[in-house]
Amino acid sequence: MTDPEPAVQSSPPPPPEAVGPLIRSLSVLRELASGGGRQAVGDLVRGTGLARSTVDRVLSTLSRLGFVRTEGRDAVLAPRLLELGNAYLAASELPDRLGPLADRLADELDESVSLAVPDGDGVRFVHQATRRRAMSLAFRIGDLLPAERGAPGALFANGWDADDWARWRRRRAADPTDAGFPAVPPRRADDTSAAAVFEARVAAARTAGWSLDDQLIEPGLIAVAMPVRDADGRTVCALSVVSHTSRLSAEELPDAVLPRLRETVSAMEYALSAPQDGPSVAAAATAAGAPTGSEASPGSVHASWMRASKQELGSEFVESMARGLITLTVFGAGRAELPLSAVAEATGLARATARRALITLEHLGYIATDGRLFRPTPKVLELGFAHLCGLTLPGIAQPHLAALVERVHDSASMAILSGDDIQYVARVPTVRIMSVNITLGTRLPAYPTSMGRVLLAGLPPAELSARLALADLQPLTRHTVTDPDRLLALVEQVRADGYALVDEELEEGLRSIAVPVHDRSGRVVAAVNVSTYAGRCTTDEAKAALLPALREAAWGIEADLHVAGRYARIPVL
Ligand code: PHB
Repeated sequence: MTDPEPAVQSSPPPPPEAVGPLIRSLSVLRELASGGGRQAVGDLVRGTGLARSTVDRVLSTLSRLGFVRTEGRDAVLAPRLLELGNAYLAASELPDRLGPLADRLADELDESVSLAVPDGDGVRFVHQATRRRAMSLAFRIGDLLPAERGAPGALFANGWDADDWARWRRRRAADPTDAGFPAVPPRRADDTSAAAVFEARVAAARTAGWSLDDQLIEPGLIAVAMPVRDADGRTVCALSVVSHTSRLSAEELPDAVLPRLRETVSAMEYALSAPQDGPSVAAAATAAGAPTGSEASPGSVHASWMRASKQELGSEFVESMARGLITLTVFGAGRAELPLSAVAEATGLARATARRALITLEHLGYIATDGRLFRPTPKVLELGFAHLCGLTLPGIAQPHLAALVERVHDSASMAILSGDDIQYVARVPTVRIMSVNITLGTRLPAYPTSMGRVLLAGLPPAELSARLALADLQPLTRHTVTDPDRLLALVEQVRADGYALVDEELEEGLRSIAVPVHDRSGRVVAAVNVSTYAGRCTTDEAKAALLPALREAAWGIEADLHVAGRYARIPVL
């Protein structure tokens, strides 16, 4: 397995205070991320060079944190891990403050637009407004480019000193194909990113104030980038407009996009100079001479969670590892930089313990410090962020549906609304009880199905009435409700109850119970259900037996969806 980050190869030995289990857990996470998010445990042992028993303990602790799952012999990255990257992104404030302006530019130009930050001698994406129609690759949030391949790197290298350039040369020599950058195709023999070419591009970008990527990543892909500076004149990120030679030539692109790019950069620099939403915790803590006041509760929550985990998992739960990883999650909006006391307070750790965690994370490049304040770095995104933010809603739901089926021993599914139909997007079958074979993509009318009623109940009331008035309501069994007024009343009841139970309206003998899945904004985006034999028990008994487990599955899906959807758009299909 290739090392995900070239910088890791040359990292110095850890300082004496470093927390060994934290270092080992992060090497397991990096190894999993570089393997596409899933690896056999045996391969993890080989890839990390750790003992099997160590990898097992790391995986137990990471599972308890919700950061990985084990499926048979494989370990799989889980959406909750995105909390680490979300904390960095929230602390940086870049996607929250500048993302909407980038999205607007993408709409206006009808081209892809991205925001990227410097990360060592690489460039890491923190926001993407993708409009890519041509067959070119699209980068994800968290992906890393070598600085010399792409438009933003030539802007960032402007600020490099002799040591930075030396590090860059060492990396180029050590990794001649860019294997350490899995998001880009291998560097080719006719190298357009050679040292002299890059140095000339950096100089040209310095003079022009913008930088061009003329197919440095792959044939056809072109981009123009401009730096976005903070109030002190420091370049904090680069805004890129990306196109394809099938639309514009590399010569035409700057003229076509620079005027709007410049305006957007000005708007972004204004947005960055505007006062923050609230006082930073660091400032508040310093002013009060003490750490956060009202924020004290997360610390005690963490502490009791640690105790419970230790009790349940015994020696398989490595507390120092869990504490260290939780340390990364205490940063966020208005908490971009924290003093040690605030980190200790928020994690519920003793100062000495928090300090060792921070020293370890700094050694590994995930935390930066001026000696007093600590802040997360974009490198945190290397911990599976790009892979996990590419998840779809069905991908997020699948393990929760599997766990549900394990509990209730009936088939479970997820569906979305598509016109007057529901469409299956995820399914874990047990025995087949429907006459039709339900596979992914199967469509059924919404009105006589439990998932359909839940999805209809999620519609705005006016749209619901209009739809029911127009729908073709056919009796499919002798129980099917086809009267629009009665159906409307039933759907309104579903909205009030938060679930739908439908008995033999789609098919004789078939009973199904469904609940909604909401996105971060509270909108119903999908429904999940369990289907069972109607003859097995009364509807009340079925409800008592199935609804709690079904609701827990839906909550689990929602929790993952909300973490994953904080900065990435999660497709429903
Ligand atoms: C992108 O956002 O995908 C992108 C940005 C800059 C480049 C190439 C691609 O130079």
